Amino acid sequence: MSKFFQRLGLLVATVLTGLSASAQTKAPDPPAEIQTLLQKNICLTCHKVNDRLVGPAYVEVANKKNYTPEQIVALIYKPKPENWPGYPPMAALPNVPKDEALKIANWIVSLREAKAPGKAKAPVKKKAPTR
Ligand code: HEC
Repeated sequence: MSKFFQRLGLLVATVLTGLSASAQTKAPDPPAEIQTLLQKNICLTCHKVNDRLVGPAYVEVANKKNYTPEQIVALIYKPKPENWPGYPPMAALPNVPKDEALKIANWIVSLREAKAPGKAKAPVKKKAPTR
């Protein structure tokens, strides 16, 4: 029995460590309007906000590339799979209405702040002085 609790403790510790590690970079759920647009335009079939699914997490898109909303709209209509090695190519979605694509794109860009150093609310780990 004590082994069981030992294991349980380990498990809890592991989960907690994982949670606190990801809490720092986790973006909140999209606002209701955006959620609806993502659903309607089937983006959520392949994308999640914080995690890789078929395509990269939106947070990752926002932080890895410094896209403007207009560039993101263009990529929805004409994806460039070469931007994301290791992923299957995204299907072009020319039928997403421009205004909806732009709203989604603005929201994706806004995710960048979730991870931006200095703006993050979570404490930033200090680097050892390099002297
Ligand atoms: C069939 C699956 C699928 C659907 C549906 C889908 N995506 Fe993607 N998306 C991907 C994959 C896979 C990638 C990475 C490879 C690529 O860019 O082709 C990607 C990449 C992206 C990128 C990064 C583009 C770049 O070049 O950096 C954005 C932005 C994006 N998707 C937004 C959207 C939006 C918005 C929607 C809904 C309108 C959507 N995706 C629907 C699979 C999908």
